[in-house]
Amino acid sequence: MSDQQPATDLGPDRAAGSGLDHGLDLSLAPTPPMGWNNWNTTNDRPEFNEEMVLATADFFVSSGLRDAGYVYINLDDCWALPERDRHGDLVPDPVRFPHGIAAVADYVHSKGLKFGIYTSAGSHTCSPVGFPGALDHEEQDALLFASYGVDYLKYDNCHNEGRDAVQRYTRMRDALLATGRPIVYSICEWGQNSPWTWARGVGHLWRTTGDIEDTWASMLAIAKQNLALAEYAGPGHWNDPDMLEVGNGGMNDVEYRSHFSLWAVMAAPLLIGSDLRTVTPQTMEILLNTEVIALDQDPLGVQGAPVRSEGGLHVLAKPLADGGRGVALFNETDQAARIVTTAAEVGLPAADGYQVRDLWAHETQKCGGTVEAEVPAHGTAVYRVTAAD
Ligand code: GLA
Repeated sequence: MSDQQPATDLGPDRAAGSGLDHGLDLSLAPTPPMGWNNWNTTNDRPEFNEEMVLATADFFVSSGLRDAGYVYINLDDCWALPERDRHGDLVPDPVRFPHGIAAVADYVHSKGLKFGIYTSAGSHTCSPVGFPGALDHEEQDALLFASYGVDYLKYDNCHNEGRDAVQRYTRMRDALLATGRPIVYSICEWGQNSPWTWARGVGHLWRTTGDIEDTWASMLAIAKQNLALAEYAGPGHWNDPDMLEVGNGGMNDVEYRSHFSLWAVMAAPLLIGSDLRTVTPQTMEILLNTEVIALDQDPLGVQGAPVRSEGGLHVLAKPLADGGRGVALFNETDQAARIVTTAAEVGLPAADGYQVRDLWAHETQKCGGTVEAEVPAHGTAVYRVTAAD
């Protein structure tokens, strides 16, 4: 660990979960960031280009995604050329981005959206092509990003030369702050250095795991790792279990609803990772479930946690700003199963009755204190439960 320990000595701002924390403006991410990133659908393929990004911004508006809260249009790896220019600046790939990056950012902004970019806290980014990273170029690259109009930086961990993670990520935080432009800062070191123990006040969110894949097994393993870290998340400092795979084809819609539900209960960033030019109505129904989104974006900003897990059947509870609880009944097994919990078990006060809102069926029922469902294999029932008046 470095001698530049940024995450000790908490000030009053930090306790309030808003304002400044070591100069980082927590109010840039009062709730988990929502948007889109190309990586999970394109990887480094040529279809990641200006045309795709602009079409995605258009679709955010026309489909209602923007109005549902999705704001960021984020570029991932492979947007630049393998060599810096003679001034040492990164150069946008002229084939992928013929009008440069600032023009893309301007277009995204003109749609009422925000724009994000990517680089690595290493000599190179993660792509085997060997694109330049920002290690020892932090100030220059941060200024370039600010000049592009960047609102969000994902800062990866490849080719880090074994150098101290806290120092590397803190130096970019300071470089971003020095630009004077408000930029959400996403730390992507895959949980290798337990960022939940030091990254609060360094970045607004931090990856807690390795890369997600579009499989049930990958999504499940990541969800379980991230569920154990609930105590470290809050407004302006989020655990990031990686971007969504919803709609990419490797899981069925029951599994994608579980993926989306679990990310919402965990107050995870909701970064769509599919190609929205070919999205199905079933995928849009998941991504546009405003009641599940509201659970993710609840202003109290508490990450939900398991209250009981037995034999692959899980009861998860997320305290909400209105005093209610988000409740997920999650069945990771291969058979349908009945999952039962109670208002008391999920932390609700004693009351004569409760309102139980099913966030997938969009129906409200009353109950005396028991919340239960027959949950299909790999399925998740999600409720908002409040004490009835
Ligand atoms: C790493 C990150 C991914 C993605 C790729 C790009 O693997 O964890 O999210 O950004 O690099 O090369």
